[in-house]
Amino acid sequence: MITVIANLKGGSGKSTVLFNLALWLKEQGESVITFDLDPQGTLSDVADVRKDEELEVLDVLTDINEIANHLDKNVLIDVGASNMNDMKAAIKAADRVLIPVSPSQPDLWATQRFLKIVKESVNEDKSLELLAFVNRADTHRMVRESDETEEALNSIKSIEVIPHRLCQRTMFRRTLSEGMSINEIAPNSKSAKEFNTLATALYADKT
Ligand SMILES: Nc1ncnc2c1ncn2[C@@H]1O[C@H](COP(=O)(O)OP(=O)(O)OP(=O)(O)O)[C@@H](O)[C@H]1O
Ligand SMILES: [Mg+2]
Repeated sequence: MITVIANLKGGSGKSTVLFNLALWLKEQGESVITFDLDPQGTLSDVADVRKDEELEVLDVLTDINEIANHLDKNVLIDVGASNMNDMKAAIKAADRVLIPVSPSQPDLWATQRFLKIVKESVNEDKSLELLAFVNRADTHRMVRESDETEEALNSIKSIEVIPHRLCQRTMFRRTLSEGMSINEIAPNSKSAKEFNTLATALYADKT
């Protein structure tokens, strides 16, 4: 299955989520290949951190044309708005697009714009699932923005909202800086539980 993790908005957590999903799949014994199509190279950099730290290697490719050689694996693709050609090509190839959305109005606007781009890029011969979830949700229940963002996402007909949020937590930030998965850094933590719930929902019966 080919999953593209995308949104137009920078900093919504695409690379963090992809990196952790890739390692979660490996932790489940699944085969994974990742593509870093974002010129910023976050995924390539974090994979290098793992090499330096002598942790299990995460394979990262940068040429989308290589995708055909890896269709037997779980494919995860990181894209960025600064390379729209590759973003559109990845969407064409994808079975599903996972859209992390931070709780804010600009992020919702960017998500709606992004959905227009998806519509333009979509491969008519293939069915494409569009999944969104709230990332960087506030940990305080009194703050309503995360609920409001999820409600707004629920009102968009073309997407399915996954009701498992990731909160804004230091541990998620540390996964990128240390090159370790949330289960490697903080097993049994709230962050790990949140992430495992999201990942399980995403891959239930699909690996
Ligand atoms: N749930 C979270 N809790 C705390 N920090 C987070 C969370 N998700 C992402 N971050 C942090 O926010 C920053 C941006 O995340 P990330 O690089 O994954 O976003 P991105 O969408 O890939 O950004 P870009 O568009 O620049 O590629 C990083 O420092 C990351 O560690
Ligand atoms: Mg990124």
